[in-house]
Parts: sequence; C-alpha cells; structure tokens
Amino acid sequence: MTNSERNLQAVHLPDDWSPESWRARPAMQLPVYPDADALAEVQAELRGLPPLVTSWEILALKQQLAEAQEGRRFLLQGGDCAESFRECSSAVISNRLKVLLQMSLVLVHGLRLPVVRVGRFAGQYAKPRSVDSETIDGVTLPVYRGDIVNAAEFTAQARTPDPRRMIKAHARSAMTMNFVRALIDGGFADLHHPEYWDLGWVGHSPLADEYQHMVAGIGDAVRFMETLSGSQVHNLNRVDFYTSHEALLLPYEEAQTRGVPRQWGWFNLGTHFPWIGMRTAAIDGAHVEYFRGIRNPIAIKVGPTATTDQLLRLIDVLNPHDEPGRLTLIHRMGAARIAARLPALLDAVKSEGRRVLWICDPMHGNTETTGNGYKTRRFCNIRSELEQAFELHAAAGTRLGGVHLELTGEDVTECLGGARELTEGDLSRAYRSAVDPRLNYEQALEVAMLIVRQQSRLAPAASI
Ligand code: PEP
Ligand code: CO
Repeated sequence: MTNSERNLQAVHLPDDWSPESWRARPAMQLPVYPDADALAEVQAELRGLPPLVTSWEILALKQQLAEAQEGRRFLLQGGDCAESFRECSSAVISNRLKVLLQMSLVLVHGLRLPVVRVGRFAGQYAKPRSVDSETIDGVTLPVYRGDIVNAAEFTAQARTPDPRRMIKAHARSAMTMNFVRALIDGGFADLHHPEYWDLGWVGHSPLADEYQHMVAGIGDAVRFMETLSGSQVHNLNRVDFYTSHEALLLPYEEAQTRGVPRQWGWFNLGTHFPWIGMRTAAIDGAHVEYFRGIRNPIAIKVGPTATTDQLLRLIDVLNPHDEPGRLTLIHRMGAARIAARLPALLDAVKSEGRRVLWICDPMHGNTETTGNGYKTRRFCNIRSELEQAFELHAAAGTRLGGVHLELTGEDVTECLGGARELTEGDLSRAYRSAVDPRLNYEQALEVAMLIVRQQSRLAPAASI
C-alpha cells in the first residue's frame, strides 16, 4: 500500500463502525423473527455464499456517478416496486431490460449524454409498510413486507416472517444477475441491433413513429462512424448495467457486507447501489448507521417533510469527506408539493457546497387510491412532477442528473393516462403489482421522451 492509499484509508474509514453496529440503534421497518437461532443460522449461511457483485464494479459505478454529478452523464434508475419470487422468469427479466435499454437509447439520443443504467432488480425484495399488521374479518396478522420476509397470502403461516426466505431471495437475485449478465455479454444490448429490444408495441403505439425515427437516426450515426473509421464500432455492442435495491432488511444486508482483498474498508456485495427509503432515513436510526460505513455509492430518498437541517446533517454523516460519486439524493415530493418543498433544499445543499447527485422519483409522491379500490398513479402527475423538477433545478442553478422510476416491461394497466389514456375502468384488465403501481413499457418510453423534450426546452444548447 502506498502512503497516499494509507492516508485515504485513515481519512475515510469510520473507526467506530462495524457491519453490525446498526444493532445498537433504533431500527424501523424490520420484521420480528420468531426464532432468533434460525435467523443467526441463515446469516451464517449467507456470509459463506459468493457475492452477487464485485468491488471493482461498485467503484466503477461510483466513478460514473461522480461524472453524473458534474453533468457529464445522466442516471436512469428503474424497475419493479418489488420483485417477486414468482416473477423471476426469463420473459419478465428480459422485457424489463428491453424497456430500460429503449429508454436509455431515447435519453442518449436526446440528451447527447452517456446514460448510467441502474436496475431496481436482483435484490429488490423488501418493502417498508405504513402499518405493522393487517386485520381482516377480525383476524389480525403481520403485514406483508416483501418476498424476502414473508408471503402476501392472508394466512398465519404465510405472514410469519421466515429467515429462510433470505436464502431464496439471494438465490433469485443471483439468477437474475446471471441472466442479465449473459444477455448483455451475448450482445443483447448491441446498438447495431435495437430490434432485439422490440416489445411488440412498436407496430401500434402512438409513440412508435418517434421511437423508430430515433432508432433509424442512431443506426445511421453508427454506420457513419464505421464508414469513417473503416472498422466496426465495437464498444457499442456492450453496455454496463448496475443493480440497486432498498437496503431495508438489515440482517440480510449485514451478511452481504464484506472486506475484499487489496481494498480497504467494507463493501455491500449484494448490490452495487443500495438506497435508504424515506421511512428509514432517521439520522440516528439503524439504517443510516449501517450505510455510513460501506464504500458503495449510496442514495437516499428525500420526501416532502424533509427539512434543510435534517438533509444537511444526513449529508454530513453519510458523506463526511464530500467524496465524488458517493451520495445521490432522490427527491420524491409529489406534483402538488415539489414547488413548495424542493427549492429550499436545493439552495441549502448548493450554498453549503456539498457534492451530491440530484435525481427525481416522480412516482412515490403521486400515489392515490381510485374509487374502485386500486392503488394507482396518474401519468399527468408523474409528468408534472418531472417537468417541475427540471424547472426548479434550472431556477436554483443546480442540475437534475437522473430519474428513478417504477416500471415494468410488461403490458400492465396500473398507472392511469399516458399516450393510450388508460382509465380507471382499464385498471382491472392487467393490474399485477403486489405493491405499488408501475409504468407499463409504453408509459415508460413516454417518460423518456418527455425528459428529452423538457431538457431541450430548458437548455436548448445542450441538445442538438
Ligand atoms: C420505493 O421506492 O418503493 C419506496 C417505498 O419509496 P419511498 O421510500 O420513497 O417511499
Ligand atoms: Co414503490
């Protein structure tokens, strides 16, 4: 180790932290496991299993996020609200990858910036809930907390938290990761062949012409570069894909936290980019304590009740040395509140000179329940929050460097509106989410297109 590496180590490694130091803090949203010995056994088994990602991938992503902080990249983070064990299938995984690739193609083309692609997958199995229990017909059972904890079915057996589910979640995550890596290595993401990503909608969607026009434009540009250079543009047949999930279930995350050879400190090797949810972001809570000590790039959800004081204290604790790429702030205010809540936060972080990547989650502040009992989100509110976000950042002199979305590659009917103007009556047709409503593939593409339009309206010089 060189002297400068040793110095970096001394500066960055919190000496009062360990992978289990969160246990001394108040922990929100954790299940109560009936059998502590079974939990400890599962943790020991998990510690011995191979990791899902590597430290060099994690550090490469951190570098890309540092570039996004400087305005040289745009972050696209998206996927299911919650993955389910049942839907760990070839079609669901490849369709999700296709829609993310299509969106990133639209963004690269329109923003003229490389896109950092991060899936909400390969580990997005734990969910925070607003209540601990649920009562039906006089029977009270623990609430469903995601497939990594218990099952959604309303029986005592299904709802009892079972630590063995962590082993299954780890295995499902590894299978997802394995398939994603194989698809990408095999050329699935090759820019020479965007037709691999067709999702069947291209022939009949109101957005089809605009998308096809872009694909043709990119094909022309690739061929032009190849003609000019006299060779194949090889680096276009590979893209990077990173994984993320809400690191909510701390016993699981603790068991994925490892030291690696020739690196100092600790990495969470269960995902590249864990985030702290809005409900578990208390400054003195267990989740913030856990996140403080890992070297991964991390994100934190910032909701409408966050104050400037709280946010600056969180930044101090989570990124005390202002390390590039370390901290992403995901604001999720809701279309009705973003204009009142966001500007003060932007100003405070800017005037303190703190280095963060701001991205917008236009989903979680816009959830509502319809008259016929469906949890949904209106496309017009998602759109409005995103448009306002770009405007508020432009006015504050800060930069919106990415988006965080709940989406699927399937033709579901969970969010209202969009190009096909889905109505409340349509929701029952293909509502499949066990938790939050997701954009379907067409609505997701539409979001990518509106980001490009909004960005070029606000900064016309940046896009051609
Ligand atoms: C989520 O991202 O699924 C979620 C629960 O978000 P938030 O913490 O912002 O409510
Ligand atoms: Co959600």
